[in-house]
Amino acid sequence: MGRINIAIDGPAGAGKSTIAKAIAKRRGIMYLDTGSLYRAFALFAIRNNVEPKERLKIEELISQAKIELEYIDGEQHVILNGEDVTSQIRTAEVSTCASEVSALDCVRAFLLDLQRNIAKENDCVLDGRDIGTVVLPDAQKKIYLTAAPEARALRRYKEMIANGDTVEYNDVLRDVLYRDQNDSTRANAPLKRAEDATVVDSTNLTLEETIDAVDKIIG
Ligand code: DC
Repeated sequence: MGRINIAIDGPAGAGKSTIAKAIAKRRGIMYLDTGSLYRAFALFAIRNNVEPKERLKIEELISQAKIELEYIDGEQHVILNGEDVTSQIRTAEVSTCASEVSALDCVRAFLLDLQRNIAKENDCVLDGRDIGTVVLPDAQKKIYLTAAPEARALRRYKEMIANGDTVEYNDVLRDVLYRDQNDSTRANAPLKRAEDATVVDSTNLTLEETIDAVDKIIG
């Protein structure tokens, strides 16, 4: 029997990771946060003072980057050249850079096999932008999870405030809109709904309601 692969795609801040994690837990299968791979590479670029537009330097960095995933107590950890960088990839700087480097063909090609290999070897829920369209077009279940930009920005803002960050709602909204624009207009594997994906709009749903809606669709 083939592996169970569930694809959850959608824009930044739609709640994909929380929902995907909950679905994976309910079903006792693995959760793969594909955005963390782009984030780890973005961190590598930032640390090396390489800008996304410096194509040759980015290609050189790819040849030097080893990105791996480890699961510790059921939690996904991202390992960059042997260092656990999980707690360092959630900053606004890394978010913006991840969105920019993810538009580059060489970066997408570099991370594609890694995602496919994990999906081939494990029953898993993957969240990202292009899982249902490019990474796993044959995934058994595909969800496109979205919400109004203002709702996504408000959730992010509340999360950041709860974490003790000092941020303004308008700045969070601007970042969300910037990433939406970047992620959906790039030439290679842009954010878009796969034709066979079911849309869940969580604008007016609570977290529990969204998890239940997604769970029901997966069946
Ligand atoms: O899901 P996230 O916010 O952690 O993703 C960070 C960036 O990585 C996002 O702005 C676009 C890119 N990304 C992508 O291009 N394809 C994916 N499957 C996942 C993320």
